[in-house]
Amino acid sequence: MKTPKSLIRPLVLDLQAYVPGEQPKIKGLIKLNTNENPHPPSPKVLAAVKAAVDGRLRLYPNPTAENLRAKLARLHRCSPDNIIAGNGSDELLALATRGFAAPKSEVRSQESESKATVQYFTPSYSLYPVLADIHGAAKNAVTLNPDFSLPSVTALKHGRLWNFNAALTFITTPNAPSGRGYKTSELERLCRAHRGVVVLDEAYADFAEENALKLALKLPHVLVARTFSKAYSLCYQRVGYFVGHAELIAALHKIRDSYNVNGLGQIAAEATLNDLKYYRANFNKIIATRKEMSRQLTLLGFRVLPSQTNFILARLPLFPAKDWLQKLRDRKVLVRWFSAPEVKDYLRITIGTAAEAAAFLKAARVILSR
Ligand SMILES: Cc1ncc(COP(=O)(O)O)c(C=O)c1O
Repeated sequence: MKTPKSLIRPLVLDLQAYVPGEQPKIKGLIKLNTNENPHPPSPKVLAAVKAAVDGRLRLYPNPTAENLRAKLARLHRCSPDNIIAGNGSDELLALATRGFAAPKSEVRSQESESKATVQYFTPSYSLYPVLADIHGAAKNAVTLNPDFSLPSVTALKHGRLWNFNAALTFITTPNAPSGRGYKTSELERLCRAHRGVVVLDEAYADFAEENALKLALKLPHVLVARTFSKAYSLCYQRVGYFVGHAELIAALHKIRDSYNVNGLGQIAAEATLNDLKYYRANFNKIIATRKEMSRQLTLLGFRVLPSQTNFILARLPLFPAKDWLQKLRDRKVLVRWFSAPEVKDYLRITIGTAAEAAAFLKAARVILSR
């Protein structure tokens, strides 16, 4: 009899899986660790989902999320053929990895190694290297400038580490976990220098001053990733989408699961698009709280990086970041710490409601006074 372990592919045995933020069930917890939106979905979205919980749950949902894609196409002034919806944008990032990068075992010469290369900046979304590993692709991680700004095309060419021929490049914009926003003009310069596919991961774009969606409709090798999770308070339903050239989008449709977006998720996302006014008011509340919290934390001695997202990255006074993580947790405040060298001295704090921000500040003041 073979052992179960011997039945598993070596690649999977060696894999370091992605570690999502904790979802603990602690009463009274202030949860600022996973960039969820502190405001509930619109009452119209909740009503639409509730109304859909009936006998139709026995049926398969629309396989291509047709109505949702039609609404998104109207919003972004493109064709539904330019859009694919996914089980969260995470699913689409995985599909892009499978669709555009080859596994290392498929490419022979060093010359063609670019075809198996998944490339990204560090720090950025920590899922990208895991997706490359799962697929058996090569990874090329290049550090951002020390202030988390994007290196210029000239600097990247000069540094020789960045591969402009990489099969797939992920750029998180605005960046996570730094919160830094990037100008569309600099993203365009960078995208134009690439020969492979570039995914601009705009999970937090609704909290930013500008977004680069137009690049996905202008440059045939650029895809923009969006999600209903963060700005649209819909993490639970898992709906994201890509916008881009119809041929790239069609390739991803070929390799997705037949019913990749669940029925209630489609209904929730469609109803969301019918009530954008509600969400825009919430973006403004979050942006105002971000500004006020950054100001207050700065007064307390935190070094808060400028943010264009629904979180801030802050360097903390007095104790190492990891100690702060525990001290805050002892006070029922949960935030996120990353071990990556560029950010290990910082904590990432999701912007909650004004009341949650006040509770965070109160806990920080108590910790500082001990
Ligand atoms: C940069 C970035 N991209 C994508 C995602 C995934 O979003 P979704 O919930 O749509 O899978 C996240 C979630 O944390 C993120 O931070």
